[in-house]
Amino acid sequence: MCGIIGYTGNENSIPFVLEGIKSLEYRGYDSFGCAFQGKNNNIEIRKDAGRINKIIDNYSLDKEISNKSIAHTRWATHGGVTKMNSHPMLDCSGKIAVVHNGIIENFKELKESLPNHLFSSETDTEVLPHLIEEEMANGKNFEEAVIAVSEKITGFSSFVVMNADSDNIIAVKSGSPLVLGVRDKGMFVASDVPSFLKYTNKVVYLSDGDVIAINKAGFKILKSNNPTKHKVREVTFSIADIDKGKYKHFMLKEIMEQQSLVSKLVNSDLSYIKNAASLVSLSKRVFLLGSGSSFHIALLTANLFRDLGKDAIAVQPQDLLNYSKTISKEDVFMIISQSGETMDVIESLPIIKDNKKIGIINTEGSTLANVVDYFINVNAGHEKGVAATKTFTMSAILSCLIAMFSAGEEREALNDLNLLNINLYNLFVPSVYKTIKDTALILKKEKDIFFLGRGNDYISAMEAALKMKEVTYIHSEAIDSATFKHGPLALISKGTYSVALVSDRFKDREINNLKEIKARNGKIIGIANEKMDVFDVFIRSQPAGIFSFVPQVILSQLLSYYISLSKHIDPDHPRNLAKAVTTK
Ligand code: F6R
Repeated sequence: MCGIIGYTGNENSIPFVLEGIKSLEYRGYDSFGCAFQGKNNNIEIRKDAGRINKIIDNYSLDKEISNKSIAHTRWATHGGVTKMNSHPMLDCSGKIAVVHNGIIENFKELKESLPNHLFSSETDTEVLPHLIEEEMANGKNFEEAVIAVSEKITGFSSFVVMNADSDNIIAVKSGSPLVLGVRDKGMFVASDVPSFLKYTNKVVYLSDGDVIAINKAGFKILKSNNPTKHKVREVTFSIADIDKGKYKHFMLKEIMEQQSLVSKLVNSDLSYIKNAASLVSLSKRVFLLGSGSSFHIALLTANLFRDLGKDAIAVQPQDLLNYSKTISKEDVFMIISQSGETMDVIESLPIIKDNKKIGIINTEGSTLANVVDYFINVNAGHEKGVAATKTFTMSAILSCLIAMFSAGEEREALNDLNLLNINLYNLFVPSVYKTIKDTALILKKEKDIFFLGRGNDYISAMEAALKMKEVTYIHSEAIDSATFKHGPLALISKGTYSVALVSDRFKDREINNLKEIKARNGKIIGIANEKMDVFDVFIRSQPAGIFSFVPQVILSQLLSYYISLSKHIDPDHPRNLAKAVTTK
């Protein structure tokens, strides 16, 4: 997903935007570019395909001085990965520069409406500076022109515009995230808070439909559907929370943080869970909506709801339309998303416009956090590793707590949460690390790995397989152990590796299935609370009641991490993946 940062202030803006854009690298990108106000009041552009540091060096960008600049990391959607397609994009006069995150659906018609303009890229973005130029040629001032253009484009598009003749940088928010950072000496606009957190913790979250001008003196709302919402707030996390610290990778840091996050949760006031739970208890049915890892949380929680006697359906946003005729107003939706920006989910919202929505979201101020009726902040801290680790765990725990509280099982839930807290201490012991690292060296050579489990263990297996794919590039497939004999068993031959996730609930049946694999000379890595004869390798998990999936998933995250390392893959930036999926 593209990243945007802009700064205007009394000091040189270049170091601010370069530092900020590097911190946005985690979102995934293929090109980088920067526009700044040059010495002769013109706009200077430096951009290229490739890595940020290399481009900065090639153009000596860090030597430039300017008090107004914008920068961008591009995740190609329209047009190949080339210098010309990198942002910022300019108008014909070279005075208006735009960086953009999103997709302009009607860009072809808009481009055709500008026959006298010279286009130099294949992107949808390039229509923006030309349209602004056109509006200004027709008599509008800069601010009016940007507003007019924001009303002409369709689809979800956030963009930031600089004009050589204006002190203002203008930000338009629709779909993709944009947040302002407020300093005494200047103003930031960026895709996320951490990109400027070193310089200010005062932020203004923008809402869809906002058109905001920033300059050295502050910000001005030019247009908004929620003009009262623009309060300056102080964020509670600090730069230390978003630093790699002593760890080699964010992924490892974020895996290790899970223990302290659980312990923090155990000691916190959970009344917000009670409020969400009462919304759920009043409902006829619960739908749980999410994509990828968040869908796995939906599946886990739906299982739990049904165990508790509540009708619940886990659904991926692309399938929601299929349910539209069966959804009633009395159904409540739990929306799970670490980023709060997943386009598939956002796009499905009109189908459930009349339903109450609870959001379990890790990003305050995100699009989804702004539209739900009840926002549960996952509070896992910023997650930089592309693969969801701590956000998976913490969102899943909160989601299960809502289910338990809604069924009046508060005490049982808190007992299990305490058990999880204690047993996470027992999980991270040297012998377990050693087994995981040794196992990583065995599995790194595999082309295919199967992940098996029953009930919730199967869902842990789905999450484990997804993590394995993402950071090791090994084909990994989760299969319900009960269905293995109905076909997939044919895939097992001498030495084929399966990872079995075995909690206590379905242990005996699981062992029977695993024996069938052993009988075909398959190899089994067991992630379980106790050692079993059927395992070739045993990785000790810990019991945690309804939260037993947490230690299982953490162990599988570590396994994927160490395989990734042994294959010299950067687990924080796996190929082809972005942290927030804002494309359709
Ligand atoms: C997996 C992963 C993705 C996300 C999915 C949804 O490690 O990170 O599968 O879970 O793209 O993202 P959110 O939770 O931001 O809606």
